[in-house]
Amino acid sequence: MVQGSTNLNTELTQEWLQNYVDDWVRFYRKHTVDGELASYIPQLTKADPNALGVIIMGNNGMTIKSGDVDATFSIQSISKVFAFIVACMDRGVSYVLNRVDVEPTGHAFNSIIHLEMRKIEKPFNPLINAGAITVTSMLQGRTSDEKLEGIFQLLEKILGRRPELDVDVYESERESSIRNRGIGYFLLEAGVLESDLGITLETYFKQCSIKITVEDLAKLGLILANDGMDKTTGEEIIPRQIARLAKVLMLTCGMYDASGKFAAYVGVPAKSGVAGGIMASVPPRIREEVLPFMDGCGVGVYGPALDEQGNSVAGTRLLRHIASHWDFSIF
Ligand code: DON
Repeated sequence: MVQGSTNLNTELTQEWLQNYVDDWVRFYRKHTVDGELASYIPQLTKADPNALGVIIMGNNGMTIKSGDVDATFSIQSISKVFAFIVACMDRGVSYVLNRVDVEPTGHAFNSIIHLEMRKIEKPFNPLINAGAITVTSMLQGRTSDEKLEGIFQLLEKILGRRPELDVDVYESERESSIRNRGIGYFLLEAGVLESDLGITLETYFKQCSIKITVEDLAKLGLILANDGMDKTTGEEIIPRQIARLAKVLMLTCGMYDASGKFAAYVGVPAKSGVAGGIMASVPPRIREEVLPFMDGCGVGVYGPALDEQGNSVAGTRLLRHIASHWDFSIF
């Protein structure tokens, strides 16, 4: 495998960077065998377990695409970031943070343990299921479709098209939702839900089932890297304070109980989903040497074989490799 950090000053051409990424994707595709497809949602087992793709979309206009970039898959937990953003935009940041905290848990994304062990006033953070379901209950609207509208509108603004719902995934999600319903009842008992539990859960299942591509993830990651601004039009799509808060949550909680390791070894805000997507935001960096994507970039990854924490196994390793060779870390 090529180890790409030599001659960066002189050779940052698209072709040169493309060759590196192609080589790295080829190498890390072999790591997909170390993971497994999420089987607790039966529809997700239909994915190709050996798939791996990445798109890096830079502020400098350069885009590198490699591997299985044509796949469509469900957004899953990555939607939690956008539900949080929409809730903050609609209700205000303090309203939302009065009802859900910003603390990492160190537990699995769908853990119930802290709901039972510690009498909660509010869930730990908006990116674990308990916090995400609470955030979803704050979305405006009476029906699940009305509540979803804000998320769809935000995604449409960023992606330039309205994404669709994957109805098969939604139904599969709904039919295999015992744990999420359990979490919902704990939240109902704690009195933190702002909407009817049934409607809130329907909204949550639908938001997780929105169909996206690797390119969508790169675009979404890029907007967040730019603190909510679409640099091509100069439009602020997400208020800066909210975009920055979303990135804090991605960094501290976005990869669940692997968030500490991801921060240490990759060093950028990122969010994963159980269908195998990862969205990462690399802000502009200042370094003495010239490095790829110094003006910032969004990275979308797809690799549906997951590790024990529910993160793409090969996708995480690929991101770690790219980030360390091209010095993406924000630290
Ligand atoms: O709540 C669930 O089970 C899923 N629909 C979303 C979980 C998810 O993506 C966790 N991520 N790694």
